[in-house]
Amino acid sequence: MSHTSADQARLANQRWWNFDAEQYHQAHPEYLSSFYWCPEMLSEQQAQLIGDCSNQRVLEIGCGSGPCASWLASTYPSATVIGIDIAKGMLARGEGFQGLLADVHRIPLADHSIDCAFSAFGAFPFIPQLTPALREVARVLKPGAKLIIAVNHPMRWVFPDHPGEQGLIASHSYFEQAYVEHDADGTLSYAEFQHTMSDWIQAFDHSGFRLHRLIEPEWPEDLHTTWGQWSPLRGKLFPGTVIFCATKD
Ligand SMILES: C[S@@+](CC[C@H](N)C(=O)[O-])C[C@H]1O[C@@H](n2cnc3c(N)ncnc32)[C@H](O)[C@@H]1O
Repeated sequence: MSHTSADQARLANQRWWNFDAEQYHQAHPEYLSSFYWCPEMLSEQQAQLIGDCSNQRVLEIGCGSGPCASWLASTYPSATVIGIDIAKGMLARGEGFQGLLADVHRIPLADHSIDCAFSAFGAFPFIPQLTPALREVARVLKPGAKLIIAVNHPMRWVFPDHPGEQGLIASHSYFEQAYVEHDADGTLSYAEFQHTMSDWIQAFDHSGFRLHRLIEPEWPEDLHTTWGQWSPLRGKLFPGTVIFCATKD
């Protein structure tokens, strides 16, 4: 069990993402220029996981500056696109969609008011327990609504965050639940959590979702970019991302 609560994680990660916003945007201009689901550069235009959302109300969870939300809003002008994030510094960089400062555990929207929700590496890696958050997402979704979540593939947790050979040696337990960092004075400054494949499947089931598709995007032959631990070397050998496609019962 993790000893970091959801509120402790939120406070630490809010500070982290406010502080990191500038660096994050400088480091990943291409990824942040459109709607990409993952560092494998699978675009929504190509994948059509959300598809045509004209006249729908769509929610992005952990939207950051909202490159995905903005792309949807400009591609489907009749859609209402809302993004939530805990970091003002990230949200402030977004435009073209409705940004709300909010935690995934307390979404400031009415019950059954959203047609489709999604997340591209937002919020879920930074919360200790999936089920309370997925139940809150279920609350705002209409019956039959889509929920699509892209996150780090759980098997990546066992390898060091290194793009080279060092990143190919399994050295952490798959079952270890949290990675945390502290400031010199002991304040929690960053918290990320491992959710195993069985955690995810159980959490969807316990939150009223039917999981019907799981995508593990392959590293494209022509993608030579290295992004932190993400690299062609590792991408050729094992998946970096998993995308869960579920429907609210
Ligand atoms: C890796 S960024 C991804 C942002 C965006 N999807 C993108 O691709 O740029 C993760 C985002 O999740 C947000 N986040 C972390 N914990 C959250 C929570 N509990 N509720 C909502 N957002 C959260 C962070 O503030 C950050 O903006």
